[in-house]
Amino acid sequence: MGSKKTLSIIKPDAVKSKYHGNIVDFLENKGFKILAHKKLKLSKPQAEAFYEIHKERPFYNDLVDFMISGEVVAQVLEAENAVLYYREVMGDTNPEKAENDTIRKLYGRNIQCNAVHGSDSDENASKEISFFFSKLELIN
Ligand code: CMP
Repeated sequence: MGSKKTLSIIKPDAVKSKYHGNIVDFLENKGFKILAHKKLKLSKPQAEAFYEIHKERPFYNDLVDFMISGEVVAQVLEAENAVLYYREVMGDTNPEKAENDTIRKLYGRNIQCNAVHGSDSDENASKEISFFFSKLELIN
């Protein structure tokens, strides 16, 4: 069975549009427990490091610029098989292709301004959680 924790980021587009409260409600209604939650503004080196995995992709520079364009909300979410389940709840990376009743369908605008990020594997979830939070900051 997969890990019970995943990392979510509510991205600058959704925070600016004041969707973050709706997204928190949506997550709780879908059964996630929020173990940690903080609003912050990423610096360029932090955003570059967080998305280093995409460094060679053509959209990397735009992605970094977008992620530092405003405040974000980082969260640790808990559920059974959290990584896979959250990917289902987020919907397709491209909001146009996302299923109804998913976060990206409801709150995303396009493939870059797609409202939320979620870890893509248990290994990355663990790294991404440590990137934003210390153990002391997580409810256990
Ligand atoms: P995220 O889950 O945060 O992981 C990487 C992000 O790159 C992704 O969501 C998208 O917002 C962004 N991105 C921008 N362009 C593309 C693209 N063509 N393919 C995939 N991801 C993209």
